[in-house]
Formats: sequence, structure tokens, C-alpha cells
Amino acid sequence: MEPFHYTGGELYCEQLPMRAIAAAHGTPLYVYSAAALREGYRALARAFAPLSPLVCYAVKANGNLAVLRLLVELGAGFDVVSGGELVRAQAAGAPAERIVFAGAGKREDEIRAALAAGILCFNVESLPELDRIDRLAREAGRRARVCLRLNPEVDPRTHAHIATGSKGTKFGLELETARAALATIGERTGVELYGLHAHIGSQIVDPEPYRLAVERLAALAEQQRAAGRPLRALNLGGGFGIAYRGGRACDLEAVARAIVPLLAPLGVRVLLEPGRWIAGPAGVLLTRVEYVKHSGGKRFLICDSGMHHLLRPALYGAEHPVWPVCAGGPEGSPQAPALAGPADVVGPICETADYLARERPLPEIEAGELLAVFAAGAYGMVMASNYNAQPLPAEVLVDGARARLVRRRQRYDELLAPEQDLP
Ligand code: LLP
Repeated sequence: MEPFHYTGGELYCEQLPMRAIAAAHGTPLYVYSAAALREGYRALARAFAPLSPLVCYAVKANGNLAVLRLLVELGAGFDVVSGGELVRAQAAGAPAERIVFAGAGKREDEIRAALAAGILCFNVESLPELDRIDRLAREAGRRARVCLRLNPEVDPRTHAHIATGSKGTKFGLELETARAALATIGERTGVELYGLHAHIGSQIVDPEPYRLAVERLAALAEQQRAAGRPLRALNLGGGFGIAYRGGRACDLEAVARAIVPLLAPLGVRVLLEPGRWIAGPAGVLLTRVEYVKHSGGKRFLICDSGMHHLLRPALYGAEHPVWPVCAGGPEGSPQAPALAGPADVVGPICETADYLARERPLPEIEAGELLAVFAAGAYGMVMASNYNAQPLPAEVLVDGARARLVRRRQRYDELLAPEQDLP
């Protein structure tokens, strides 16, 4: 059974009606399915089984400690991009030897913390960063394992805001720079070359950009081997796309067919850094309709959540499926109620871009009804803000017939505290 499913005319998360979860915890509320998180992780492990990859979950997608703990139990590794994410991974019990650290702007304090933790490796994004890690490791009496992040200059065929592996982005090293760094890295006593890294973008659904990127990584790895400096690891990053409204998900098996033949002969350890694939389908944002308003020839469903809790529609024009919790059946199913024309699903924020869905065919909906915003488990809560002094929502993790509050709703006094508790 799907983790989120309509049964008896209403939406369930696993064995629990979403209506009951909303009644117990209030709205706006992020609800995550443990079964969906586990399945996302296992689908990757299955698809890429011939490579036995270390799946380093990208904490940036959803850093809730309960989500991280669940993944620690499954044996996942973790990709962090800041000291804050490192602290989260550690708090969730992630073993240091399964943590990799990426990001173009690593500060000295963040590098020192990662060195002290003894993480698996740093994904290095520039030569000045390599210098810095080398120096800080020597100062700490350590040797940092590093992967050089290559910018393979491929078009990931995704939204421009989330394309990272194409020419002219701030990410990774150009091929020539990487080659030069590889030739001299052995002279640095603070670092030890572990391998190469590439992350070409996010929400990628075609196998071809992966094939091209891996081809470039593999060619460089081969050159290194020929030069007597074999690499130990290749980190292919994340980016596997999920199905939003009207779209399709990445076919992991097709990606595997495209890249396994290139990687298997190299005999290197393979790492992956998926975020969205694991967390995205596992989360729903529950919001209540406060008002139904007709204005300017349009129908507005004004909700208690909006761009401050789920920024993706406003920032990328992302289309998350939105559907009533008590609806008979899912969008497009024979049990679904008749449509009543398009509606804009908007929030309380004083911005015209504050919408969760625009011009969406929806049934008749009354004030007080609950709406579910699907595929919201990744880059939802982590990108939420306190804009308009709105508190952050609560988060609940459902596992079978049990719903556990895993982050309580933010209180007003917590909004004021940093300005009131002054030294
Ligand atoms: N590794 C690195 C180095 C990354 O920068 C990212 C994502 C990932 C892994 C995980 O990518 P994923 O598997 O989740 O696609 N806020 C945007 C997505 C930004 C992704 C940033 N980097 C969104 O809501 O679509």
C-alpha cells in the first residue's frame, strides 16, 4: 500500500487518518511516513546494488533528527554542507566514518569541527579551500581525506536554480584545475586524496546527464590510475528527481544501466548523496483553509500555511499536488469529487508570490477543510522561515499506526528570545 493513500474517502498516512493527526497536533503540520523514508532508501540500494554504494543522505533535504535517526538505523551515510548539519548528523548518532562534507563556503570553524569529528571526507570545491583544509589539518595534527569536486560541465536538464554541474556555476573545479590539483596533491601533508566528487544538479529525471558526468569522472579516474595514483572513491552526488504534479520520477534502474558499466571496472568505492529521492515523497504539508474568497474573477483558498513553510512553489514555480484530505479519492481517481474550476491555494503572507498552488483544478472546498500538499518532505521545512513573524510548523513522524511529534510547533516567545535574552 502507498504510504499516503485514500481509504474510505479520506487521506491516510500509513494506518492513520490525516484528519486525526491534524486534530491531535494542529495545522500547519508536516507529516512524514517512516515507511516511505525506508522505501526511498532501499529503492536506491536495490537499483545500484551492483556498485554497493554508500548512500549518504543529503541532510539539507530534511534535517529532522527523527528522520536522520531512522536513516542511521538503516545504515545510511550523511552528506552535510555546514557545521549546523554536522551537529545535526552527530546528534542523530551518525557514525563519523559515514559523513561527507560538501559546500563551496566551508568556514574555518566548520572544517575544524569536521576534522575533530573524524569524518569520512571533505568534498573540496576550490583550491583556496584545499589550502585551508590542508593547513587546518596539519595544525590539528591530522590528515584530512578529500574528494575533489569536479564540475563536469553537463546540462542536468533541470530548473536553472538547482543546476550545479554546468559551466559557470560556483560549484566544483574545472577539469583543468582538477587535473593540476591531482598532480600536486601528494605534496600536501595535511590531506590525503580519497577520490573525486560531482553533483550535477537536483530534480534530474534523465539518465543521460548522469552518464555524461560519470564518463568524465571515470576518464579522470582512469588517467590517475595510469599515472600510478589510483583513486579510492567516486562520489556521484544526488539529484534523483521525484514525481511532482504532472511530472515523472527519475528511473533509477535506467540510471544504473547507464553508469554501472562505466564504474564497475574501476574498482572504486561508490558514494551517492540523495536527498529529495528519500525525503520528498515521504512528506505531506497539512494546512487548513481559513477563508474562501472570490475576487477578480478568481477563487482563492486562503490557508494557514504558505510560502513561509513551503517556498518551492514561489521560488521555483514548483507544482506540488494539492488535494483535500476528505475528498472521496485522490486527484484524478473515479472516487474524486467533481471539479469546481480552478483555484489559487495561497497563504497568509503579504506577498503576491505567496502561493502553494496556482490555477489548480480543485473541487468545491469550504473554509475549515484540510488540504494536503504532497511531495513536501524534501526542501520543505528546511527552507521554512519566520517571515511575517509566523512560527515554524510542527512535524510528526508516522510509523504504522503510531504518530510521534518529532518537532513541536514554534512558540511566540521563541521568536522574541534572541532579541530579549541579550548578554
Ligand atoms: N549533494 C550536494 C553536493 C548537493 O548540493 C545536493 C543538493 C545534494 C547532494 C542533494 O540533492 P538531491 O538528491 O536532493 O536532489 N532547494 C531545491 C533543491 C536544492 C538542492 C541543493 N543541493 C529544491 O527545493 O528543489
